Amino acid sequence: MKKAIVWILVSAVVFAAGVYLGKVKFSASGPAAPPPTFFEGGDGALSVDLAGKTIIEVKDGQSIQEAVGKANPGDLIRVYPGTYRETVYIDKDNISLQGVIQKGKWPTLDGSVDGKASLNDAILYSGSNILIENFKIVLYKGNAIMGQAGNNFLIRNNWIVDAGIYGIFPEFGKNGLIEHNVLSGISDAAIYVGMCDNIDVRHNEVFESVAGIEIENSRHCLVESNYTHDNTGGILAFITPGLPIKTCFDVIIRDNFVVNNNHPNFGKPGAIISMLPPGTGIIVMAADDVIIENNIITGNDNTGIVITDLSFGSQLSKDPESEPNPDRVVVLDNVMFNNGNNPVADVKTAMATQMDNKGPDILAYGGGVGSCIRNRDMYRTFGLENYASCELESTDNVKSYLLSTPVAPRVIEKDEKGKMAYYGVCSGCHAYDVRMIGPPTQVIQALYKDNPQGIADYIANPVHKRDDYPEMPPQNYLSEETRLAVAEFMLTLKN
Ligand code: HEC
Repeated sequence: MKKAIVWILVSAVVFAAGVYLGKVKFSASGPAAPPPTFFEGGDGALSVDLAGKTIIEVKDGQSIQEAVGKANPGDLIRVYPGTYRETVYIDKDNISLQGVIQKGKWPTLDGSVDGKASLNDAILYSGSNILIENFKIVLYKGNAIMGQAGNNFLIRNNWIVDAGIYGIFPEFGKNGLIEHNVLSGISDAAIYVGMCDNIDVRHNEVFESVAGIEIENSRHCLVESNYTHDNTGGILAFITPGLPIKTCFDVIIRDNFVVNNNHPNFGKPGAIISMLPPGTGIIVMAADDVIIENNIITGNDNTGIVITDLSFGSQLSKDPESEPNPDRVVVLDNVMFNNGNNPVADVKTAMATQMDNKGPDILAYGGGVGSCIRNRDMYRTFGLENYASCELESTDNVKSYLLSTPVAPRVIEKDEKGKMAYYGVCSGCHAYDVRMIGPPTQVIQALYKDNPQGIADYIANPVHKRDDYPEMPPQNYLSEETRLAVAEFMLTLKN
């Protein structure tokens, strides 16, 4: 509690000083300082104090976005059961968005028209100190909940069904907790932590999606007590080359159920994830200092755990700044059985050299140094010859990777805006020199050389041009300024 009081005092001083928080400026003559949203972490207890907040109610038939527009930082927006067909964009700090579930009825964000996913995104936030809880989100073409550069976030107890790209996707965030969400039918990653620091992902259930939980180019992440089942792949910690953050390390994957992840891959053609072979429980690709402890990993038909360097995803663009090997991976005790019943061809060939016709519990492939395994004889393995026997007993000393005090909102410089939007939005579909869902950025650069305004206009209202590509979803929720900034950034990209 003491920490909370200190934070209230600190916030009061900060507000009184009239600093910028997002786009809203508080000063002595401006609006009165709102009660701050505060977060307490460190021991895994990140929470928001909702007492004393100004409450804005949203009822069936009204618009959540209108409420966000009216809200001041510090306000609590309560959304009652009903169907809300909209995209909610939160570009302020300190907003709490809370669904109210009554008699089993949820406030539902529904992105469909005639039963078909039609709207692109459900909730996008770029503020810090954001709470999003108790929403049902169904049938969006893009993302259900996506955050860009928001620090100190809490996303919990949401129920997300059928999103065309990501389910819960914080990007460039620090100090966040994702817990007690249930996600299914997500065409890329259900929970995707991208370029973040200090994130806990706990007690979520993730199923029938392509990738269950992804930790990508992120540091200090705890993936604990989740139930990931019937996805194409269960839990992934990896580096994607070519992004502005080049590393992924200090990831603990423990106490999870990783079961029957054999779902056919229904990732969009061109998306990196569409290369993921079904049947893999946990994948560590190029990430360092990953600890895998006390998981129950069973029924994954290809392999229980794959630890690999970047040559595994050979279609990935090359990035000399990303170190391609998984170093110091620690495999402690896990319960593993009944994996590898139907391995992919390469794994089958490898295992045949060991007179085994099943896929292994654990497979290590390619480079990497300093890795270890405990009780290796408990598992069927391949490629772990240079793994030492672990000295580490357990990860009990790490309760959480959340911070004990909230971090300040990230200040985004004007020229950083375009970069953030590019990596936050566009790079999911456009890569520099390889075809993904959309054409390579190089091709677009050739088309629009000195014409950033042309790109800015196109993305607000794209017309379908290429028969061999799908339509590009409109990005008109981005402000005009951001659209131009992202266009300018796209034209300067060199790799
Ligand atoms: C969900 C995937 C997706 C996202 C996200 C996306 N694009 Fe696209 N983009 C596409 C596809 C697919 C095409 C090809 C469309 C066509 O030719 O009909 C395309 C085409 C384009 C083009 C070519 C226009 C032309 O005249 O040929 C530009 C420019 C472009 N995108 C810019 C962007 C920018 C900037 C962003 C980020 C703000 C972005 N895209 C985000 C999928 C996406």
